[in-house]
Amino acid sequence: MNLDRLIDALPKAELHLHIEGTLEPAMMLELAKRNNVDLPYASVAEVQAAYEFNNLQDFLDIYYQGMSVLIEVRDFYDLTCAYLAKVHGDGVRHVEIFFDPQAHMERGISFETALEGITTALQAAHKEMNISSKLIMCFLRHLPEEAAFEALECACKHKEHIFGVGLDSSEAGRPPELFSRVFAEARAQGFVPVAHAGEEGPAAYVETALDDLQVQRVDHGNRAFEDPALIARMVRDQTPLTMCPLSNLRLRGIERLDQHPVKKALKVGLLATVNSDDPSYFGGYVNDNYKQVAKAVGLDAGEVVQLAKNSFAASFISNADKQKGVDAIDECVNRLQN
Ligand code: ADE
Ligand code: ZN
Repeated sequence: MNLDRLIDALPKAELHLHIEGTLEPAMMLELAKRNNVDLPYASVAEVQAAYEFNNLQDFLDIYYQGMSVLIEVRDFYDLTCAYLAKVHGDGVRHVEIFFDPQAHMERGISFETALEGITTALQAAHKEMNISSKLIMCFLRHLPEEAAFEALECACKHKEHIFGVGLDSSEAGRPPELFSRVFAEARAQGFVPVAHAGEEGPAAYVETALDDLQVQRVDHGNRAFEDPALIARMVRDQTPLTMCPLSNLRLRGIERLDQHPVKKALKVGLLATVNSDDPSYFGGYVNDNYKQVAKAVGLDAGEVVQLAKNSFAASFISNADKQKGVDAIDECVNRLQN
């Protein structure tokens, strides 16, 4: 079976996606004009030329600058609609989307402005394209705990729209346990916890995300492979992992895509998934991630189907909806074989 055709056709969920990371250069320039924001770029080519990263921090500097064009509710709405329309064509049926409210609040944009634009687009996508969604608010780990508590207080006023809390931004030197208290309060308030861990930081950060933050899913987790006991624990507990191959390549967590651990993850029985992270910045949406990593590490059709099934199993939808996702995949595979 042709792998690219299979990947295009498979129903799937995307579970690791920063909505601000879907801002395409053309939209960035358009919104800068609409909102009178000064950017150091005059053309799409100039924006793209800036996307040369040596590490996570290089990327984050550009990412926070890029999102400065998001000012009004409709900017967040347009951004989210564009992402959903794109992945609808990629077979995506369910999305679990991150947003970074502190990055907006810091520059004077209210929590509600960002939230309203994003949720209105998510509701429209459900109605018009039958894409279901959950929204996860990330705490920025480069900011102090108090700032995270402020964001949590805002989130508590909008529990009907916010499903979970995450932890993102600069990882080195900012271990998960610095946020134990705010995660404890978030869990007590009913938010489901996840965290970026082991993207650049060591395996110990994955362990403390599990132990101290009690996360139900690990974002990236690549460096967990440095600790075999930790991997054994995650296999035993079927802790979901949201891997992002093109992100890891572009941020130089790996030198070449054939070094990506996704095949190894499947082989040892981890509940691994493939996602795009910040597709506009890393050169590919979710299907590009599947295709390029499949080719680089030599995934067979069975492994690609397993990844798509894992995307539903690792999501936060009901067991009945997970089964519907898996059934839709089986139907798709049968159709392609006949
Ligand atoms: N924010 C957006 N993308 C991120 C990533 N890959 N790691 C940490 N923080 C992020
Ligand atoms: Zn991420």
